[in-house]
Amino acid sequence: FRVAKRVLDRVSIWDGDITNLAVDAIVNAANSRLAGGGGVDGAIHRAAGRNELQAECRKYNGCAVGDAVITSGCNINHIKKIVHTVGPQVYGSVTDEKRENLIACYRTSLDIAIENGMKSVAFCCISTGVYGYPNDDAAKTVTKFLTEFLENDDQIERIVLVTFLQVDNELYNEYFSKYAAT
Ligand code: APR
Repeated sequence: FRVAKRVLDRVSIWDGDITNLAVDAIVNAANSRLAGGGGVDGAIHRAAGRNELQAECRKYNGCAVGDAVITSGCNINHIKKIVHTVGPQVYGSVTDEKRENLIACYRTSLDIAIENGMKSVAFCCISTGVYGYPNDDAAKTVTKFLTEFLENDDQIERIVLVTFLQVDNELYNEYFSKYAAT
C-alpha cells in the first residue's frame, strides 16, 4: 500500500496523554460493559468525571467488539465528544478475525464521528495494552486502513494517532514513512 501526500497531510503522530489533546473527538479503548477501567479508559473517565461519563455510558446497553458508541466530553472542555470502542482481546498470535475486529474499531469510530460532524479525531492505540494485541501488527494494520479510509473521505481534516509508548511512536513513524509515496 501507498500513503499519498494528501493523506499524510491529515495524519499526526503525537506522544502524550490523550485527555490533553484539543480535538473534536477522542477515541477511548473501552470494554464491552462500558464500565470504565484502567489504562486509557481510566484516564478518560477520570478527566471526564467518573459519575458524569458513567451516567452517559449507561444509556447504552454495552458495546460489542469492533463497535463504537458516542458520548459528550463531560468535563473535558476542550473536546466535543468521546467515542468509545471495544477492541479485540488477543491471546497468542493475531488471527484474521482479530485483525478485522481491530479495523472495525477504527472504521466504526470514524463513521460515528463523521455522523456527529466531527472533523478532528484522536485515537489511542486500541487493544495494544491490557488486551494484548501486538504493537507491530496493530500499527501496520491501522496505517493501512487509515490510508485507504482517508483516500475516500473528505470530512475528516485531521486524525491524531496518540502514542503513549515509545514503541508505538516509532512503529507509526516507520510505517507512515515506509509506505509514503514520494
Ligand atoms: N493517553 C493515551 N494513551 C494511553 C493513556 C493515555 N492517558 N494511558 C494508556 N494509554 C495507552 C496504553 O499505553 C496503550 O498503548 O493506550 C493503549 C491501549 O491500552 P489499554 O488502555 O490497556 O487498552 P486496551 O488494550 O484496548 O484494553 C482495554 O483496558 O482498562 C481496560 O476498560 C478497559 O477493559 C478495557 C481494556
